[in-house]
Amino acid sequence: MTNADPVKVMKQEVGKAAADRVKSNSIVGLGTGSTTAYAIEYIGERLSKGEITNIVGIPTSFQAEVLAKKYGIPLTTLDAIDHIDVAIDGADEVDPQKNLIKGGGAAHTREKVVDALADEFVVVVDGGKLTDKLGSTFLLPVEVIPMAITPVMNALSKLGGKPELRMGIKKAGPVVTDQGNLVVDVKFDSIDNPEELEKTINNIPGVLENGLFVGVADIVLVGEIIDGKPTVREM
Ligand code: 5RP
Repeated sequence: MTNADPVKVMKQEVGKAAADRVKSNSIVGLGTGSTTAYAIEYIGERLSKGEITNIVGIPTSFQAEVLAKKYGIPLTTLDAIDHIDVAIDGADEVDPQKNLIKGGGAAHTREKVVDALADEFVVVVDGGKLTDKLGSTFLLPVEVIPMAITPVMNALSKLGGKPELRMGIKKAGPVVTDQGNLVVDVKFDSIDNPEELEKTINNIPGVLENGLFVGVADIVLVGEIIDGKPTVREM
């Protein structure tokens, strides 16, 4: 292998492997993030080569929409379709039960809508995203409507979390989501019951959606470098 960034290589390979699973005549959920960006690029490449035909994408974010347009993937909306064949999306953490933390790109609300509707939800991650327990390395993102930010942060603290308002990078002020809301990242010492926590947090008035994806993923593709060679395996 060359001295290319190994994480980038893993992301590219796993994105390509997911794109290779897309069949002609299908409706594809297009996820958000740097790994899915490669999948979108390769789906576009397969379309332009004529390897697959009649694909329409459902974007999970403004980023996915921009990339799909760049790579020539026609787009539609949830109002115009009755199913999604496959969704491809990244994750920030994956546990052994294929439960996920998502939202590193502040897109988890739309991602959950699209990924949960898909007949098959394929997660694409590099090996560094695998964890025994969710919350070990990544904070849990929670999308909150702006007027409710203070009571929601208080409620998250009462649940034992340490909430922090996500701030923009190269932009003064907080991150604003594609829906015009704010994101709170919450550190929990231990997420023992992700299924219960997902529901409890979503029950706080003012919370739109949190980044726990429990029982949604069907297939997890993991990009790894083994003996200097990039490989992709199914978890
Ligand atoms: C965006 C997400 C992303 O899928 C997640 O953050 C992984 O991103 P990347 O592939 O860049 O590591 O949930 O909201």
